[in-house]
Amino acid sequence: VRRGFSSSAVRSVVIKNVTIIGGGLMGAGIAQVAASTGHSVTLVDTSDDILKKSVKGIEGSVKRVVKKKFADKPEAGEELIQKVLQNVSTSTDAGLAVRGSDLVVEAIVENLKIKQDLFATLDKLAPAHTIFASNTSSLSVSDIASSTSRLDRFGGLHFFNPVPMMKLVEVIGTSATSQETFDSLMSFSKVLGKTPVSCKVRFTIIIVAVSCHASKEDIDIAMKLGAGYPMGPFELSDYVGLDTIKFIMDGWSAMDPDNPLFAQSELLNKLVAEGKYGKKTGEGFYKYK
Ligand code: CAA
Ligand code: NAD
Repeated sequence: VRRGFSSSAVRSVVIKNVTIIGGGLMGAGIAQVAASTGHSVTLVDTSDDILKKSVKGIEGSVKRVVKKKFADKPEAGEELIQKVLQNVSTSTDAGLAVRGSDLVVEAIVENLKIKQDLFATLDKLAPAHTIFASNTSSLSVSDIASSTSRLDRFGGLHFFNPVPMMKLVEVIGTSATSQETFDSLMSFSKVLGKTPVSCKVRFTIIIVAVSCHASKEDIDIAMKLGAGYPMGPFELSDYVGLDTIKFIMDGWSAMDPDNPLFAQSELLNKLVAEGKYGKKTGEGFYKYK
């Protein structure tokens, strides 16, 4: 067990080895940022084909970062690319991967039961000091943690998409999360170069937009030009993933069924049923191919 002391003399776990479960949009981004800040990262997904795609995506994304940050220092840029690729290994065996981990960050499908099952299994295999964190957008971190016996070493680490660009991380402590775990997650986020805050967000703009009858183009243009958003809500929904948006909205609708904000959107349901999940599948509200 490796332990250290932060400058404020609060005990926190020194996080060096990180396992990230889920190599999709978020997991790959988190792996990239953790690897580029010197962590040893194991990225886990269900197949080698998916993992190959994740690593290709990471390489492409680091190259974009390097092109901006090291435009006049190509050697330093190349060094960063090599460092990231060396620091990321992949595995399809989550149980094996967590054995040497200080921190497990879960970024799999937004489904409570699937997340609970995963953590219940990992709880039996990870070392005692390992901290578990979920990147869930909308589920209760306490509910996810309840499938484990390490409630004090469990929290939320909510990154934003695209992870390499977005500075914010929400660190979520449940009523059972220990101060040491919370501090470790805050320090880890800072070491990643992010700005951690401890609160929860809601995607009201997205929800209002998908329930609204104006044209998606008009709403997107209005929000970009009138409200200064970098993407309109429909573009952003496609960027986040319509499957993920639907999981989030269905979850909130189940918790608050009479709230008209969470009423079913026929269009969203239709697109998801057709496998049109947004940018990642080439079509969602808009076409990308
Ligand atoms: N990796 C690395 N660099 C990236 C990148 C990525 N994935 N995406 C963008 N960049 C960098 C690159 O340097 C890029 O330049 P190149 O195209 O030359 O490589 C530069 O950013 C500019 O990108 P773009 O020209 O594509 O467009 P942009 O200026 O609009 O910036 C953006 C892109 C940062 C994604 C911006 O559109 C934006 O901030 N959009 C809103 C994102 C947002 O709100 N995210 C939160 C989603 S909600 C969420 O995450 C929570 C949840 O639980 C669902
Ligand atoms: P995604 O669909 O891009 O990726 C999920 C990955 O998890 C897939 O590659 C899938 O194969 C893998 N996976 C599923 N079950 C698994 C299991 N049991 N073991 C290992 N791998 C498994 O999804 P995403 O957009 O990266 O979202 C992941 C999580 O992050 C969700 O909880 C989501 O709510 C949250 N989140 C998403 C965004 C966003 O903008 N997309 C932002 C913040 C948080």
